[in-house]
Amino acid sequence: MPDPILCLEGLSKEYPTKSGSLTVLEPTSLTVGVSELVSIVGPSGCGKSTLLHIVGGLTTPTSGRVLLDGHEVTGPGAERGMVFQAYTLFPWLTVRQNVQFGPKQRGAKKAEREQLADHFLDAVGLHGFRDHFPKQLSGGMRQRVAIARALANSPRILLMDEPFGALDAQTRTVMQELLLTIRSKERTTTLFITHDIDEAVFLSDRIFVMTARPGRLKAEICVPFGSDRSPDLRTSPEFFQIRAEVYDLLHSEGQAVVDAEIAAGSSASG
Ligand SMILES: Nc1ncnc2c1ncn2[C@@H]1O[C@H](COP(=O)(O)OP(=O)(O)O)[C@@H](O)[C@H]1O
Ligand SMILES: [Mg+2]
Repeated sequence: MPDPILCLEGLSKEYPTKSGSLTVLEPTSLTVGVSELVSIVGPSGCGKSTLLHIVGGLTTPTSGRVLLDGHEVTGPGAERGMVFQAYTLFPWLTVRQNVQFGPKQRGAKKAEREQLADHFLDAVGLHGFRDHFPKQLSGGMRQRVAIARALANSPRILLMDEPFGALDAQTRTVMQELLLTIRSKERTTTLFITHDIDEAVFLSDRIFVMTARPGRLKAEICVPFGSDRSPDLRTSPEFFQIRAEVYDLLHSEGQAVVDAEIAAGSSASG
């Protein structure tokens, strides 16, 4: 494996509730190496966002710690660029101003900020839209801006929480290909959360499969397709083979979620 950038050491999370504490994440350890894209797939509610929020410094773990380049994470920081499913652009700023926001915060001069914004807007194919406001853009375009904004901070790692989850299937496919192109140029290390198996296989170097809540890592799958991937990969036998492996691991977890929901419903009504 390449040199590690990010190490999660025994991260767990419990939330206090009226009926005692709710374990959302069981002790979880993993490492992400330089320039890798590692994804985590798991059923709804298994603690994926909780895990990513801990890495982002937005939530504190109940136990364990996160190390970035060997330093413990204690809060949010620009070296971890976050992209969420929901659109999080500043509506009162133009596209270009949104992308310049991080560099401006760290005191970058105007010329440098503009150069960074132009570079990354180019990378996401939105140069012609730099003076638009977010509300004038489609969902896919807004996520392109969100990616450009995260990259403009030159993060050590990009943390993406179902970033294409709200997009229609065609736009989603295009965005996945865009992410591959950006990664082959910028070599950005990425921790990627999704529940979409195809997306995970198409994008990842390694995939961790989580169990239903309380989430823990159930399996690790290496995806041996290298960094130069063409859209044709999606229809290759090798792709289908790995897809089937992940599907088998996830299917029983999805069933566990549905069974738990049905059991909770019947105990509540009876
Ligand atoms: N602040 C909170 N207090 C109590 N429970 C929470 C809180 N945040 C999330 N949860 C619960 O933790 C579980 C995991 O949530 P989440 O990490 O969002 O799952 P995922 O992203 O895998 O769908 C869910 O059951 C959710 O209801
Ligand atoms: Mg989530």
